[in-house]
Amino acid sequence: MAKTDNSLMSTIVSLCKRRGFVFQASEIYGGIGNTYDYGPLGVELKRNVKEAWWSRVVTARADVVGLDSAIIQNPKVWEVSGHVGGFTDPMVDCKKCKGRFRADKLEDAKCPEKPSKRPGECAGELTEPRSFNLMFKTHIGPVEESGATAYLRPETAQGIFLNFKNVLESARIKPPFGIAQIGKSFRNEITPGNFVFRTREFEQAEMEFFVPPEENDKWYSYWRDARFSWYSELGIRPENLRLREHDADELAHYSTACADVEYLYPFGWGELEGIACRTDFDLKRHSEATGTDLLYFDPQTKEKYTPYVIEPAGGIDRMALTFLIDAYEEEQLEKDTRVVLRFHPEIAPITCAVFPLVKKDGMPEKAHEVETILRRARFSTFYDEKAAIGRRYRRQDEIGTPFCITIDGETLNSDVVTVRERDSMEQTTVPIAELRTFLDEAILNWSR
Ligand code: GAP
Repeated sequence: MAKTDNSLMSTIVSLCKRRGFVFQASEIYGGIGNTYDYGPLGVELKRNVKEAWWSRVVTARADVVGLDSAIIQNPKVWEVSGHVGGFTDPMVDCKKCKGRFRADKLEDAKCPEKPSKRPGECAGELTEPRSFNLMFKTHIGPVEESGATAYLRPETAQGIFLNFKNVLESARIKPPFGIAQIGKSFRNEITPGNFVFRTREFEQAEMEFFVPPEENDKWYSYWRDARFSWYSELGIRPENLRLREHDADELAHYSTACADVEYLYPFGWGELEGIACRTDFDLKRHSEATGTDLLYFDPQTKEKYTPYVIEPAGGIDRMALTFLIDAYEEEQLEKDTRVVLRFHPEIAPITCAVFPLVKKDGMPEKAHEVETILRRARFSTFYDEKAAIGRRYRRQDEIGTPFCITIDGETLNSDVVTVRERDSMEQTTVPIAELRTFLDEAILNWSR
């Protein structure tokens, strides 16, 4: 990382706003606590993160299928899953400033009135910890009455368990197999913070992998290692990543083992994704509560069993933030410093920028032709004819565009363009007819 601690975080936050990655939600109304909107570049970044996850976890495999389940399910689901009773954080209030904090995270919190002190270490006295349920409540129907209470899902996983039988019967698939889902989840976090790291509304990418119980340990190691490698394969620096196995007292109510992929954020190591053994807890609970048979019948052994579940669960917003932070560099050049986001080309919001060298002599028209070729080949493309070419390069470096393609006099004479590569700043002359293959190969061979 080029900068440390909070200065890097505030640099990233202001870059995100200035260049259109992330905006504060409801900004013109003064905002709403730790809720964000994604701008044009942020949307593309998140789409690419989701696509990179989906293509690796689902499309590339014959044993994983997808699902898109409802956010509001029957409220009994959350009683049975243990979320109504157990999805809580311990909370304390400061009697003086009325600040509200997580009792188990006081060491990371700051007194709102004296930020150099922790809550309780200032003049304020803290209340005894109380349990606070993280689920957002809503109600179904026009009348707000207790019988109509429903919840916004706090994890996408339950929708997968509820559809276990539907998928098993319709997709002609058998354990070991997985069901994957990307979608919004909601948690009424007491102390959200650190930009999009912890918010009240966020996207999760989760996969429940159903296995014969005796294969549990093998598949746990497999998915833990596969998910850990995915981040460095997409350009995150290995020295900023670590795997941390949970101690028994950290495990969620449904899990017997869990490892977190952690990243070294400017504010310290933080969880990026968890890989958990959920055993047969959820399927058994839903089966008992509804009387539905959620067993798998193995036609070979003629045995029925409840599969065990390995669950990789990550947050898309946290992944996007991690790619941004890790990509950020201030590179010292001979005469000045350039800001560059060294995204993997699969993750970069824009893949190619197309520039006419000057705004005359037929160059803009030729540049638009090249732009059309690239868009048709499905490269995310941006056209820019304003300012000196050097400034245009820098503007693209700052948002992580891996290739800038310039149309100049030679293009008009002999149909060749100049491709300038973001990381090395090297320039290569490429015939327009070969541009697509050139870019495909450069993307495939990219390394940090
Ligand atoms: N189904 C298991 C589950 O939900 P989790 O560890 O609570 O596990 C999985 O959540 C991932 O979702 C986390 O690793 C994190 O990346 C993301 N996540 C959780 N709470 C979040 C929040 N408040 N804001 C942003 N991302 C969050």
